[in-house]
Parts: sequence; structure tokens; C-alpha cells
Amino acid sequence: MEKKRILTGDRPTGHLHLGHYCGSLKSRVELQDDYEEFILIADVQALTTHFERPELINDSIYQITMDNLAVGLDPEKVTFIQQSGVPCIHELTMYYSMITTCNHLLINPTIKTEARSYGMEDESREYDFSKLTYGFLGYPVSQTADITFCNADLVPVGEDQVPHIEFSRRLVRKFNEMYGTDIKEPEYKLSFVSRLCGLDGNSKMGKSLGNAIYLSDTPDEVWNKIRNAKTDTNRISVKIPGNPDVCSVYQYHKAFNPEGVEEVCSACKNAAMGCVACKKLLNEKMNAILDPIREKRKFYEEHKDTVRDIILQGTKKANEIGNENIAKIKEKMHVII
Ligand code: TRP
Repeated sequence: MEKKRILTGDRPTGHLHLGHYCGSLKSRVELQDDYEEFILIADVQALTTHFERPELINDSIYQITMDNLAVGLDPEKVTFIQQSGVPCIHELTMYYSMITTCNHLLINPTIKTEARSYGMEDESREYDFSKLTYGFLGYPVSQTADITFCNADLVPVGEDQVPHIEFSRRLVRKFNEMYGTDIKEPEYKLSFVSRLCGLDGNSKMGKSLGNAIYLSDTPDEVWNKIRNAKTDTNRISVKIPGNPDVCSVYQYHKAFNPEGVEEVCSACKNAAMGCVACKKLLNEKMNAILDPIREKRKFYEEHKDTVRDIILQGTKKANEIGNENIAKIKEKMHVII
């Protein structure tokens, strides 16, 4: 039986962190044997918010590809695609945009939230149309082209991306009905991995929140972040029993020390282990995971040409698949003379 095709994407706007590792990278590694896996490096989508910093995007293309490879994605199995290098994605975006209404984009809750965080809203929390760009508002259209240029079956996503996939499905259905094309309506697969909180006590780890541990961090950098992590603030002495539920370090033990987490929990509650010892133990467990990742990453850092070739080869393959599909679509649309 033919393998189903999965497509996932990352915006190259920096390095990937442990939140990405728990939320998507780990499951990408698990899926690579059973699916044909495409990883899209969405550099054009990154421009929707980072258009003033193209050099950052350029460097990040390498950084996130190395992060993906370092966690164990096998370049023999997985296809890495640079979005800007696949013209048919942008052509398809244009055709899709003709049948997309502004309202359908404006009601998207993820667009609304992101518009707020990028300063594209006014004081009354309405869209500020003098700041909201056409490219940003329209990125779900382009994302639909990312997924459908190769007729991907499945898109693994976090909750924030669900409105986009639902948008894609509706758009594709409308397009197929209108032109008699046969483009696959993508399905999504929710990644149920629990969200990693920040070590500063924030509910989320995020680059923009300044609380992220990167896959490319050195052991010293990791220890410094763990050392300063927020624990139970009521536990002012080792002798006082702690409350793991309000401690960020405990949440990390759940994610990175699953076999020892029960013991950590009771030792904390019984005042049998202090916060420093608990942090040291976590540091050990995290390094056990990060060390092999660091080693692989180092290899690719020293072989940047290999990374470049992986991206170029994958992009070439994407063009072959996409050009064939777009030709069929254009024929149905009567845009070929
Ligand atoms: N919007 C996604 C994000 O911000 C990135 C992305 C771009 C994507 N194209 C995609 C995800 C296609 C899935 C499929 O993380």
C-alpha cells in the first residue's frame, strides 16, 4: 500500500526550542517511517511578519533544518522544502485568492490573535487596516497552497493551526466544485502532546517570551536557565514541604524524566529533596536527551553544504511533483492556451 503523505511547516524566524521538540519534532520522528513526510520551510510566510529582517530568515532556514535533522529526522526519508523555491505554490496561491473573501480571512481566530501580537490592531482591539498587510491577512490562502500543491493527505498541527486547516478544506472544496479539479482536502492530526510551560512560570515556552531552552543551547546555557527556574515560592527552606503543582521544574520532570517523576513528586511533598537537587536531577535528564541532539547538530554545523544540498534536493522534488499538479489544475481552469 502506498504511504500517505504528511506535510508540516515551520516559519524560519529563529532556532527551535524544547517547546517545538515536545509539540512537534518528536512526533515527526515517529511518523517518518509510516508516512511520506514533507517538511516545508515557510520562508515566504515568515516574511509576513519579518519582512524587515530577511537576513534573519535566511540564517534561520539553516538553523531550523539543522534542528529537524538533529532530533533524528532522516534526510533519506524526509523531504525538506524551501517554500520560496517552489513557484507553483505561489501560482496556486494566486488562483485560490480569487475565490477567497476578505471576511473569511478576517474571522479566522488565529489571524486575529497574531494580528494583536504583531501590533496590527488598534486600541479597541479591532483590526487596524493601516497596519494589517494584505500578505499577512492572506497567509492562510498561501498555506492552503503549501499543503495542496502536492496533495498532502495529513497535516499534524497544534490547536492554533486548526482554523487554518478548516479554512483550507473549505477553500479546496469550493475550488474543486468550481473548476472540476481533484485537489485533496487535507485532514489534520492534532498533536496531543502537552504544552511545555516556561521555566519562568509562564504557561507557555516561547521565543518572544524570552523563556525558551533551545536545542542549540550549550550545557552551561541550559543549566543557567534551569538554575534560575521558578519553583514553589512558598518553599523558602528545604525543610518545608513543597507543592509540585505550582512548580515549573516539576512540569519539566513530567516531560523529560517520566520514569522518575513520581519519586520527585513525593520527595518534594515530604521535604526529602531540596530545589537545587531537584534542578540538578532535571539538568541531568535533559542533557541525556540533548547530548545526542547536540552531537548530530554539530555534524551538520560543520557540513553546511550537506544541509544546503538536502534543502535543494527536496525543493527540486517538490517542484517536480507540484509542476505536474499545477499543469492539470490550469488545464481545468482554462488558463492554458
Ligand atoms: N503556520 C505554520 C506556523 O506558524 C507554519 C506553516 C506554513 C505550516 N505552512 C504550513 C504548517 C503548512 C502546516 C502546513 O507554525
